[in-house]
Amino acid sequence: MSAHAAPTRRLTLGDLAAKKAAGEPIVMVTAYDHPGAQIVEAAGVDMVLVGDSAAMTVLGYDSTVPVSVDEMIMLTKAVRRGLTTPLLVADLPFGSYEASDAQAIATAQRFVKETGCDLVKIERGGTSVDRARALVSAGIPVVGHVGLTPQTATSLGGYRSQGRTAEAALAVIDSALALQDAGCSLLVVEAVPAEVTASLMSLIDIPVIGIGAGSAADGQVLVFHDLLGIYDGGAAKFVKRYASLRSAAIEGVTAYADEVRAHVYPAPEHAYSMPAEEAARLRELLEGR
Ligand code: KIV
Repeated sequence: MSAHAAPTRRLTLGDLAAKKAAGEPIVMVTAYDHPGAQIVEAAGVDMVLVGDSAAMTVLGYDSTVPVSVDEMIMLTKAVRRGLTTPLLVADLPFGSYEASDAQAIATAQRFVKETGCDLVKIERGGTSVDRARALVSAGIPVVGHVGLTPQTATSLGGYRSQGRTAEAALAVIDSALALQDAGCSLLVVEAVPAEVTASLMSLIDIPVIGIGAGSAADGQVLVFHDLLGIYDGGAAKFVKRYASLRSAAIEGVTAYADEVRAHVYPAPEHAYSMPAEEAARLRELLEGR
């Protein structure tokens, strides 16, 4: 566990701005359930994202697109119950905010009211800039997300890094600045060359959280299942594994199965017992039947 001294109150956007001003990195991680939330709380992270990556990490879909508002709300409520100090961000799922400002506000209000999340995150520039402005006007803090935006990965040519030409990089930077102008409190920048993030950092005032965006950002976010080695499958180039929980879990369950099959588990110390006289009486009662 981190030696980080945990604050005793929920962090605020002001705390994040202060970290940015002090050059203190902001730590963000995803979580999708109550035990996961308790783990990241204990590790002392600053922000927790209930990402729509939940679609793939915990719900078994093959992209983030199918996850529903109801599914995301259930997961976000579970995470909320496990958190005290970090700020909680919830992803608005694909199809729940793009159609109109009214749709975006109605969806975001459900998240805020039903889950107690502190901010909502939406993907892309373009029309999402208008949605961000509308949400902020409705009093809902927003996190923007540019670069690789998995909800629209197909139109970006798949899960691949973005902004690799000067023109494409400029488009990422322009989207980021437009989202800032729309009132976003924070920005996630995903899978862009480190040079793009470095250029953006000299132009932007709100905290920028990178994922596969180099080290110039104000903070970093990784997917819980990726960094702990829980998720079965290939990881993106930017993922660093800090643990191998999947293999540890398979080992544990295999050992359990082996011991049950070999009559080793449960051992006497795992069993409840009754007083000897009650056991004797039980035998008598059974014999008397
Ligand atoms: O859904 C998610 O987990 C995300 C992060 C990768 C930023 O959007």
